[in-house]
Amino acid sequence: MALAPPFSNLGRAPAGSSCGLTFVSVGPGDPELLTVAAVRAIQAAAVVAYPVAREGAAGMAATIAGPWIHADQRRLPLLFPMVTEASPRIAAWHAAADALAAEVAGGAAVVLLCEGDGSLFASSSYVLLALRQRHPACPIQLIPGVPAACAAAAAASGVGLAWPLALQSEGLLIRPTPGTPAELKVLLAQAAASGTVLALLKLGHRWAWVRPLLAERGLLAGALFAQRVGWPDQLVAPAAAVPAQKQPYFSLLLVRQGWPEVLP
Ligand SMILES: C[S@@+](CC[C@H](N)C(=O)[O-])C[C@H]1O[C@@H](n2cnc3c(N)ncnc32)[C@H](O)[C@@H]1O
Repeated sequence: MALAPPFSNLGRAPAGSSCGLTFVSVGPGDPELLTVAAVRAIQAAAVVAYPVAREGAAGMAATIAGPWIHADQRRLPLLFPMVTEASPRIAAWHAAADALAAEVAGGAAVVLLCEGDGSLFASSSYVLLALRQRHPACPIQLIPGVPAACAAAAAASGVGLAWPLALQSEGLLIRPTPGTPAELKVLLAQAAASGTVLALLKLGHRWAWVRPLLAERGLLAGALFAQRVGWPDQLVAPAAAVPAQKQPYFSLLLVRQGWPEVLP
């Protein structure tokens, strides 16, 4: 029976190719955490697109990738309003998909920069879905990147802590922080019962009530707080050391409620 070509090559243009659209994950903050493929794709692009929350903003992904972008590359900020209503967000994804497809149709090599990994809770995923729907012939490739949760676990070593994310038969659940204490209690109970480590994103203002809840349940010692990982003002600390008050959006929490039996 004839073998199919290697799956890694199916529908994939080579990194740094001179046509098409490449979604480039840029990691959580440190420009050194872009992959070689990410840097090559950025440097081969004529147009560098990136999300902004408002007109004129620098854009987090563009700031992270800044050292790898040349002055002669055209910048294309794409506005993704941070609102809860669906219709402005859907309109923004459609507009971004149309703008990117138009650039590609015009012959440009285009990159879309994505903070962290572009497949994890990322605006770029909505753009990808919109492109597949509205411009199915547009050639696209994705370059994966370092997720903030992985960078946080690695940064723990810098403060003298060992923070393996998952070992042996443990699970790892990366998800937004629940919106209420009741939901978090349920999640913690499920995670404890199933041996699952939690990586809770979008912690921000919720930290004001999450910390007391962890303290009440004796879970602070097994939790790591990480804020703006990879940025000059990075804060990575045992959760017990961070006071219960609102924190910036770019904060996350790792929670481990147990360890496997067999360890060094
Ligand atoms: C929309 S999600 C983006 C996740 C990202 N795509 C990734 O792969 O990690 C945003 C959330 O990720 C977390 N996050 C992203 N970058 C971070 C960083 N540098 N430091 C701490 N948390 C970060 C925060 O919890 C933030 O609220």
